[in-house]
Amino acid sequence: MADSAAGWAPASLSNLGPGFDALGVALEGIGDVVEARPAEGSTVVVRIEGADGLPVDPERNTAARAAARIAPGVGLELIVRKGIRPGSGLGSSAASAVAAAWAVARLLGRAGQIGTLLDAALEGEAAVSGARHGDNVIPSLLGGAVLVTPGHPERFRRLDLPARLHFGVVRPDLDILTREARAMLPRQVSLVDAARNAAALAFLVDALRSGDLETVGAEIERDLLVEPVRARLVPPFAAIRAAAREAGAFGCALSGSGPTMFALGGDAGAAARAADAMADACRHGGYGCVSFVTRDDPRGARDFTPELRRWSA
Ligand code: HSE
Repeated sequence: MADSAAGWAPASLSNLGPGFDALGVALEGIGDVVEARPAEGSTVVVRIEGADGLPVDPERNTAARAAARIAPGVGLELIVRKGIRPGSGLGSSAASAVAAAWAVARLLGRAGQIGTLLDAALEGEAAVSGARHGDNVIPSLLGGAVLVTPGHPERFRRLDLPARLHFGVVRPDLDILTREARAMLPRQVSLVDAARNAAALAFLVDALRSGDLETVGAEIERDLLVEPVRARLVPPFAAIRAAAREAGAFGCALSGSGPTMFALGGDAGAAARAADAMADACRHGGYGCVSFVTRDDPRGARDFTPELRRWSA
């Protein structure tokens, strides 16, 4: 076994409007680092830097659960360096799980086994969200945009995104627990709404393939099932969306369970104008925030190198 290994895994946007649990995109420049070292005993000991209040109990910690799945009964120390704020809707728990799986696999000389890494990271994600949902884990592991079947994370497909697509992102200073934001969703929905959502996701994917950002932007705002329920968790939601549109964005939506919102721009400048306008609207509504511009990260998880530590949100 090596003395230590460190993995990095990117943040991700998920859902993208009508794609609840089915669509996610890895983000460039923002992610979590996990360093793994061999330790005495047979359990995983976790230390967390850069975030308060996360559980270090190995059963409840996303990184520890992923590590133990890869190396059951092996004594390990994990140092989790958070670049992504927990409870932000940017796939924070998924990134920690993926980075931990990557680091432990490296430590054991078993890197490159994607199926094993995916299984371990899904297990880690379930510790936090209560479900093995893959729409953050898979893009964080593999990079790019990913379509996945809810409940069947082994059924996924990479999607190419238009090269000019950039995201303006605003993360309001609010914490939303994914588990609670899932519990508030309706158990049953109307057939008409479900059919409209399915059509919106189909148009969205078709427009992503053809590079029609105007249609992508329209369709990400057409979720009838999930976002309307969760929008009330983000009091400046309507003002942020209106500001993004006013600034010329193609569309704006909640990422995952929120509170992060993102807008689509046709280049970095357009995304930056949207991000600035969204941040102004958020602060005007009484909430501090962090905003930034990014795009898809086509590579996903990898060995940590210092230049990967660019931003945190
Ligand atoms: N698809 C998940 C959800 C992602 O919306 O609950 C959690 O961030």
